[in-house]
Amino acid sequence: MNSIQLHDKHFVPFISKEKIDQYVEFLAEQIANDMEANEVPIFIGILNGSFIFAADFVRKYPNSCHITFVKMASYEGTNTSGKIKHLVGINEDLEGKTVVILEDIIDTGNTLAEIYEVFRDKNVKTLKIATLFFKPDIFRKELPIDYIGKSIEDKFIVGYGLDYDGLGRNLPDIYKLKE
Ligand code: IMP
Ligand code: MG
Repeated sequence: MNSIQLHDKHFVPFISKEKIDQYVEFLAEQIANDMEANEVPIFIGILNGSFIFAADFVRKYPNSCHITFVKMASYEGTNTSGKIKHLVGINEDLEGKTVVILEDIIDTGNTLAEIYEVFRDKNVKTLKIATLFFKPDIFRKELPIDYIGKSIEDKFIVGYGLDYDGLGRNLPDIYKLKE
């Protein structure tokens, strides 16, 4: 893996695709083990960032499941903009269902707070949150995160679905912003 440039910024290799694969597999196994027998969960990927994670995750999930996506973005450039856009795309009736949210990364937790808000009146049976990456040093909410693939330092990362101003989502490995 070599250093790369996206727009004006340089990024250095951080997490290889082989490692990512292990984290995704671990999450899929853990979540499957925690399900009640014959439970068919609905996985909901948060677009755009989680599209690759969700695609890999469901192929490692060993039992029957549904997969759908919703869209919400709160990030511009390398700084969180603070303003949360609304969740769009929930058309299914989720009442009484076991829902597992698939997030690419949880940073400030603003998006997570919005997800909890939106699901408050959906009367789901269970709501669980799974994130591939988590930045514990930035997270400031008192909200539960049920499954974490990998906790990382407070660095801006790209690749595997994550972007810097629209670029980098297609990189198979994860890169971090060069100091
Ligand atoms: P939060 O609302 O601050 O927790 O941020 C959540 C969203 O911001 C994630 O779903 C990503 O789309 C984006 N994000 C957070 N950290 C990063 C990063 O390091 N690189 C790229 N996108 C990020
Ligand atoms: Mg996202």
